[in-house]
Amino acid sequence: MHELLQMRLANPSSQHSAGRKARQIVEQARESILKHCGGRTRGMASDHLLFTSGGTESNNLAIFGLTEMVPGAIVVSAIEHPSVLGAAEFAAAHGREVRTLPCDGNGVVCLERLSAWIAEHKQGKPIALVSIMLANNETGVYQPVAEAAQICRNAGVLMHTDAVQVLGKSPMNFEALDVDALTITAHKLHGPVGIGGLLLRHGVQVSPRAFGGFQQLGLRPGTEMPALAGGFETCVSLAASCLMDRVACMQRQRNSLQQSIRDSIPDCVVVGDTSDRLPHTLSISFPGVERQALQLALDMAGIACSTGSACASGSSQPSHVLLAMHLNPAVVRGGIRFSVSADTTDAEIEETVQALQAIIPQLRK
Ligand SMILES: Cc1ncc(COP(=O)(O)O)c(C=O)c1O
Repeated sequence: MHELLQMRLANPSSQHSAGRKARQIVEQARESILKHCGGRTRGMASDHLLFTSGGTESNNLAIFGLTEMVPGAIVVSAIEHPSVLGAAEFAAAHGREVRTLPCDGNGVVCLERLSAWIAEHKQGKPIALVSIMLANNETGVYQPVAEAAQICRNAGVLMHTDAVQVLGKSPMNFEALDVDALTITAHKLHGPVGIGGLLLRHGVQVSPRAFGGFQQLGLRPGTEMPALAGGFETCVSLAASCLMDRVACMQRQRNSLQQSIRDSIPDCVVVGDTSDRLPHTLSISFPGVERQALQLALDMAGIACSTGSACASGSSQPSHVLLAMHLNPAVVRGGIRFSVSADTTDAEIEETVQALQAIIPQLRK
């Protein structure tokens, strides 16, 4: 990104050579990211990647842009990120029917309900779009997206998935998932904040949410930023070049953190460990402790954890994900999340466990 910024690139839509150079960088980044995500980049049936400002915008573009011309209900799961749930709520407030899929106690979205609604769709109770995330940001639990996409495809219903947490953390293939649209963002894999994308399957129609420019086929107008696109591309290809090594590192550190906490605070509750999980996420609860007090105490000890999705963590509302799993209220109240990266060290794990050993008894007192 530094190199690209130093090149003082022009507007990629300008016709002069500085503009054409900038265009080339943006388009190379677009093609490379699409390819790394398993999208089709060649031939008549190429998929498409729209650059956006991040996951929130991509999710909103999917929810509103895919349904504008399609009648019927929007189906979301109860454990979606606030950027999907908020968009669905807004659509509901403006007259769209919204239905919510429950999840089970292991944090996995129930597809029986979806199958029943799809059967009704075939009998005249239309569904416009189904949106189920690929893995949950709080528990890390993978969701049965490919299965849901099959159910939707057989009925001609559009399917979107929020894959923000999966890119760079686990193998992912857009074509194999067989969804119509997929959300990604750069900052979840050490890339720049301020750029994300919406992958669109060949032929899928999306209506724009912004107007007045011809960039990106007019579907997401506005001047593209070559340094952000280049930074996004770099982090995606770096992650792809050593994905399985990164996965192994993250899994080892997450499991070590989980086991060490269990050994020293045996009445902690690990959430989602009975399901297939992302390698870097640890959702853990300390009944009898208030999550916000715990987050504050850890922060003072120099350790960053989270009490929900970052977008909701300013609020004192309990996690909608843990509530949807129908966990014991004390588990919901004391639930926090740690995320490790491939760079997390043994010393950092040890420091975290020691801090918890000191803090938890104090807070319980
Ligand atoms: C699952 C999920 N979706 C969407 C987002 C929003 O992405 P962004 O921060 O790029 O808007 C996040 C970010 O925390 C996320 O975890």
